[in-house]
Amino acid sequence: MTQKESPAQKTSALNNKNTSWSGRFNEPVAELVKKYTASVGFDQRLALFDIQGSLAHAQMLGAQKIISLDDVKSIEVGLAEILQEIEAGRFEWLLDLEDVHLNIEKRLTDKIGDAGKRLHTGRSRNDQVATDVRLWLRATTDDVMAGLQKLQLSLLDLADKHFDTVMPGFTHLQVAQPVTFGHHLMAYVEMLKRDKARFADCRKRINRLPLGAAALAGTSYPIDRELVAKTLGFDGVCENSLDAVSDRDFAIEFTFASSLVMTHLSRLSEELILWSSPRFAFIDIADRFCTGSSIMPQKKNPDVPELVRGKTGRVYGHLTALLTLMKGQPLAYNKDNQEDKEPLFDTADTLLVTLEIYADMMRGITVNKENMRQAASEGFATATDLADYLAKKGMPFRDAHEVVALAVRYAVDKKVDLSDLPLETLQQFAPEINSDVYAVLTLEGSLNSRNHIGGTAPMQVKAAIKSARETLN
Ligand code: ARG
Repeated sequence: MTQKESPAQKTSALNNKNTSWSGRFNEPVAELVKKYTASVGFDQRLALFDIQGSLAHAQMLGAQKIISLDDVKSIEVGLAEILQEIEAGRFEWLLDLEDVHLNIEKRLTDKIGDAGKRLHTGRSRNDQVATDVRLWLRATTDDVMAGLQKLQLSLLDLADKHFDTVMPGFTHLQVAQPVTFGHHLMAYVEMLKRDKARFADCRKRINRLPLGAAALAGTSYPIDRELVAKTLGFDGVCENSLDAVSDRDFAIEFTFASSLVMTHLSRLSEELILWSSPRFAFIDIADRFCTGSSIMPQKKNPDVPELVRGKTGRVYGHLTALLTLMKGQPLAYNKDNQEDKEPLFDTADTLLVTLEIYADMMRGITVNKENMRQAASEGFATATDLADYLAKKGMPFRDAHEVVALAVRYAVDKKVDLSDLPLETLQQFAPEINSDVYAVLTLEGSLNSRNHIGGTAPMQVKAAIKSARETLN
């Protein structure tokens, strides 16, 4: 006759299968379900932050006399060893233990016994994972801001070299008015400035402590959340326990800010692709950022800008994934939230490497000034200047606009530029025109006349570069 197991024996048997809630269950989790629900394959990159959070929690438990100081000491020693094992690549991550949190906790308990089992007092994996992600994202946000800064400096250096290099400014991708290449680049420096401010703002909301919320409702232990927040460098605590464990809006914000950076870089990429194509031939991208074709020997393809443009779609996808992940969840924590990590990690990885490679790529750009200038002088880029000239002589601007339109039509027929028309011809369109008109019709005349804050006059561009450099350094 087989002896019946007592409930306690049953529990410990299942505990040997490495599951921390097994007392509740009659059969082990199916193998496929284990694989399906495990996150350790990707959340192990949170390990350092998990350990930081556990140390701060244990120290608080000790300070509040919830666990003994001897236990705190053992936990500190155990976690320090585990950190070394992880850093040395010696830590054995087990799928059976589901996630980074349970893997580290089990290893700790194997090392130090009961003290390890006391670490989870007054805590849940729900507030633990939210804390880990916030700590990781705070550090990552700082890296992103540094990456943005590096790219801005690289753009500034190129803008500096070309503060007075003439290029056609476009609207509708048609030659509109002359601008300087430096001015064009400074537009992106501005965009990145706002991007950086968005991350700085988002960081404030990332930097709040969820720990103490426990599973969802808080804990009955006399915890000190402010102390944990201070230890971990948070600006304060999440003020509602249900919100603390369940919302991932901070991760969505980060991914949105990342999406906007990618939008900006995708636009610049599109321009680099156009400008480097032989039809434009405005710039050359250094060979180390390009590849050739296996069939067409003449090709040099702008792979990096094309990939940036492509990867922008990938980051937008992550933003959509995170928004959708959140929208149907009732309060508080749901397992859905485990799906926040891969999109978030991949967003950060994609953005960081893009920023780094971009900063280097902008340093490797050479400019064909002659081609840029030629293009600027071909599309009647100074027609607006002629209209302004007439308006300044007293002709209403709308009439001046019409007069110049007729002159342009005439020049198109004759296949010449406005500045090639003799004075007598110009005067047939408007007798007000004098020989001083030619100063206005030149590219330099046009550039220099736009001499105000935000204008393209080379002196203004120089000033904009100087002031941007001052705020960056
Ligand atoms: N791996 C989980 C996550 O990423 C940790 C929290 C699990 N909590 C739970 N009650 N199952 O969200």
